[in-house]
Amino acid sequence: MQKDSEKSLQHRDSKHIWHPLTQHQTADAPLPIVKAKDALFWDDQGKEYIDGIASWYTAMYGHCNDEIISAVSQQMRELDQVVFTGFTHEPAVKLAEKLLGILPKNQSKIFFNDNGSTAVEAGIKMALQYHHNRGDKRDTLIAFEHGFHGDTFGAMSASGLSVYNGPFEDFFLKVERIPAPVNDNWQGVLLKLKTIIQENDCAAFIYEPLVQGAAGMKFHDADKLNEIVKLCHEEQIISIADEVMTGFGKTGKHFASLYLETQPDIICLSKALTAGLVPMSITSCTQDIFDSFLADDIGKAFFHAHTYSANPIACAAASTGIDLLLSEEIQSNISRINSKHRDYINRIKENPKIEDIRCKGVILAIDLAIEMDRYGNLRNTLYDHFMTRGVFLRPLGNTIYILPPYVITDKQLQKIYDSIDEALALV
Ligand SMILES: Cc1ncc(COP(=O)(O)O)c(C=O)c1O
Repeated sequence: MQKDSEKSLQHRDSKHIWHPLTQHQTADAPLPIVKAKDALFWDDQGKEYIDGIASWYTAMYGHCNDEIISAVSQQMRELDQVVFTGFTHEPAVKLAEKLLGILPKNQSKIFFNDNGSTAVEAGIKMALQYHHNRGDKRDTLIAFEHGFHGDTFGAMSASGLSVYNGPFEDFFLKVERIPAPVNDNWQGVLLKLKTIIQENDCAAFIYEPLVQGAAGMKFHDADKLNEIVKLCHEEQIISIADEVMTGFGKTGKHFASLYLETQPDIICLSKALTAGLVPMSITSCTQDIFDSFLADDIGKAFFHAHTYSANPIACAAASTGIDLLLSEEIQSNISRINSKHRDYINRIKENPKIEDIRCKGVILAIDLAIEMDRYGNLRNTLYDHFMTRGVFLRPLGNTIYILPPYVITDKQLQKIYDSIDEALALV
């Protein structure tokens, strides 16, 4: 007979499953999660947690959202999946129309992928082939230091977080890096950028606009970023805005790129795109980029596809997600959360344990005045503290951040703030 412990989900999991971002030799057993609703989820013991990071910024309109579920269930009964090469369908076209209605005005075409990394991968390939199709040999990408763009090879090459990249660096695309423009480093950034442009054949500049998420929710200056994108445009360097994290309202505007006057040539979207329900991503581009692939020569086409491109169910979730984003309720929730964050900042900013505290839209980040490894013991102590209190936050090294679903209540938000107050006393 099987013992109870052998029947447990954790035991069965440990026998067969390899988890992402996990050192299985030392990691605790993963927590079984059985249910989620709005800003909450529950474990198998019935304990409730507030999802303080909207499950990696996906479930922004709340978990198991009734409107999304209803749109998706209806779609599932009509058309579940069909090849998107040689066929089209209403859910994809409807989504493209809605999305182009809210993206920066220069965006004109929508290309479908599976996840954030593949949206970036497609963006980089579009930029490289754009130059190739025009007979212009360009081989260098420009990216920010400490950027994060995903875990496939092109995306990893563009990322500047060595904690993830170490074993693969010898196999990367050619990338030159500039610091993100903050405070008083502008002249240095500009000089470095101009030198890189002079000394290399630069094809594209890829960046997380305004907020570098995985780097620890680090913010940079919109005006200076605008100058960089403008300079790239003057040099026919394709600008790729990776809005996988920032897209769909998190910075206060629908997209972070809308804070800039100069718009990117290519935009990568995922995460909240499908409201946390199913994986999908999009790489949008300008008419000029699209036109550079038109020719009698089939080899000039974009020969890039994913089996589940424009999956109708994912498109239905995304279309409904956009309706929710544009609703008065969600827009007023975004303002409400931002104003609560600001009140909280004013209350705790003088705490000597805080090195920096900032917010943009619904993103609140606190850098602790203490050195901490990204995956070190102190970081784990903080994580455990929050989980014990029923608050799911994942500190990035010494940065504690909140990026809650828009439907979080004031009471739930206050509980997160209280748990941070306690954490400050703890460190
Ligand atoms: C800015 C950015 N780009 C790309 C990605 C990769 O997305 P995915 O994990 O869906 O591949 C992420 C994931 O966190 C991200 O934050």
